[in-house]
Amino acid sequence: MNELDSLVASARELFAQAGTPVDLENAKAQFLGKAGKMTALMKGMAQLTVEEKKTRGAAINVAKQAIEAALNDRRQALLDAQLQQQLQAERLDVTLPGRQRGQGGLHPVSLTLERIEGIFASMGFEVAEGPEIESDWFNFTALNTPEDHPARSMHDTFYVEGGTPQAPNLLRTHTSPMQVRHAVQHVKRYRHQLDAGQGMPEIRVIAPGRTYRVDSDATHSPMFHQCEGLWIGENVSFKDLKVVFTDFCKTFFESDDLVLRFRPSFFPFTEPSAEVDIQFQSGPLAGKWLEVAGSGQVHPNVVRNMGLDPERFIGFAFGMGPDRLTMLRYGVNDLRLFFDGDIRFLSQFNK
Ligand code: FA5
Ligand code: MG
Repeated sequence: MNELDSLVASARELFAQAGTPVDLENAKAQFLGKAGKMTALMKGMAQLTVEEKKTRGAAINVAKQAIEAALNDRRQALLDAQLQQQLQAERLDVTLPGRQRGQGGLHPVSLTLERIEGIFASMGFEVAEGPEIESDWFNFTALNTPEDHPARSMHDTFYVEGGTPQAPNLLRTHTSPMQVRHAVQHVKRYRHQLDAGQGMPEIRVIAPGRTYRVDSDATHSPMFHQCEGLWIGENVSFKDLKVVFTDFCKTFFESDDLVLRFRPSFFPFTEPSAEVDIQFQSGPLAGKWLEVAGSGQVHPNVVRNMGLDPERFIGFAFGMGPDRLTMLRYGVNDLRLFFDGDIRFLSQFNK
């Protein structure tokens, strides 16, 4: 083997040993680079005669082309290997089952609100909604709670910026403002009948929604839900309140095995007033009295603010806590779990 053939052979061998493109480029430099062996051979031709240069130059060129061909082959081989490796690593198994779309569901408190609405609808109640940013007038004043009345401090109110005495300026602390809001609309619709000395259809409505107080522990949340109930007519009594609310509780909890207690209490907008406590006679909660609502006969001043004559119209109202009802129904012991947004907790209610 002559000098050029052995050079080509050693280039092939070195290229074959190069395991990566970087190794290969380093190996190339040994032959074809500025300080490479081929370059040195070319320079060595300076002393040769013109005839010698021709044959020698042609031979060197053949060798150089052979080295370049070997280099390109190896480059391609390394690229192919890299591609194979990548295909192997990123292999897709198209026979695997696809990723499922997560199944959503209703929030447990929403499920409770739906139940409440369904039960009261079956008793002839409409459902009304009202604003969560409320005016001082509807939240307190219209409900017989004047400016300096001590009852205002019973509610720890979130106030919002701006606001005039008549404009929205607080987050409603209860759904009771809906009593006057809804009644005023109702009365407006039948004003001409009333003015003509005729009657009007009874007001029978529930108003569920969010309410807010500066309050937070296992049974109090700064945002919670209430559902107001209002029934106003010419002949509605406290007895009707007891019947309606007892019926509601038995239907809601799907049990006749519970008793209600109307415990005397105070609200500025009802007189007399009562807290409604419930006691299960069997099951894990048996024996304990649990407060679920405030209630009472609507105060004459509130009836007047509805645009009605309190000598003629009378009725009752109640305000219950759907969050607490949800806790009782499902045996949840911390109200805050409902509002933490933990999907592991929430998904249990949609099976
Ligand atoms: C009221 O808010 C009255 N508006 C209820 C009322 C309506 C009385 C109509 C008379 C006539 P009270 O503050 O007690 O009352 O709240 C009523 C219910 O809301 C409570 O029984 C309780 O179930 C629920 N509740 C009150 N505060 C919270 C809170 N921070 N977190 C969760 N539930 C609450
Ligand atoms: Mg209460």
